[in-house]
Amino acid sequence: MILHKFKNQADLDRAAADLFISVVRAKPNAVLGMATGGTPVGLYKEIVKTYQQGLVSFKEVTTFNLDEYVGLPVSHPESYRSFMQTNLFDHIDILAENTHVPNGNATDIDAEGRRYDEAIYQQGSVDMQLLGIGGNGHIGFNEPDDELSRFTHKVTLKESTREANKRFFNSIDEVPTHAITMGMGSILHAKAILLVVKGQEKAEILDRTLNGPITTQVPASLLQTHPRVIVMTDCDVTYKV
Ligand code: GLP
Repeated sequence: MILHKFKNQADLDRAAADLFISVVRAKPNAVLGMATGGTPVGLYKEIVKTYQQGLVSFKEVTTFNLDEYVGLPVSHPESYRSFMQTNLFDHIDILAENTHVPNGNATDIDAEGRRYDEAIYQQGSVDMQLLGIGGNGHIGFNEPDDELSRFTHKVTLKESTREANKRFFNSIDEVPTHAITMGMGSILHAKAILLVVKGQEKAEILDRTLNGPITTQVPASLLQTHPRVIVMTDCDVTYKV
């Protein structure tokens, strides 16, 4: 892994945006893996700024999002589809049909998972996958467990995850109990991965991700097995080699 440390989040957002923009400039029909949560908001803003300056186009780009809540209407402001429209897709020239978010309202979630993976694998692979990290080391919604799933699947959210995400809702009762997420296999299938970690409160889990044992109890630690992972953070951590 390559660790880039930043003094402030503004510089981090700009560098992360520049990395994604450089992928699209080098390959206009790039396949990008997108993430949600508080972490990527700033970097999406920077991407939009660069687009508005006419310096990049997303007309041929395809995107796949990591995950979606199960049972939350797509029109709900906190659905991940709404998040992506509001923070990125509505402000750039990407074609609606090229943006993919798992359908958390599918009647058959298992079938939806298979459909989603087929759509990803039909593209070959994701060129650059953006990831945030949960306080418990989850990526996408792959929660710590004795074993992890390879493909897109339904998960029961840990209470700690619902607790962390309640800030986006009126109360914890409104936070969905389940989600559909890309599996570890599909995530690690990406050619390159950018993990963005913001805030000193995530320093410990980032240290375990970078330096701890590779364990399904810290899903992000599996990133140690991938040959091209860039970590951008404002945390005070070191990568021990
Ligand atoms: C969410 C998402 C993840 C995200 C993580 C951290 O629930 N499913 O993709 O990386 O939790 O979120 P945040 O960036 O808000 O801390």
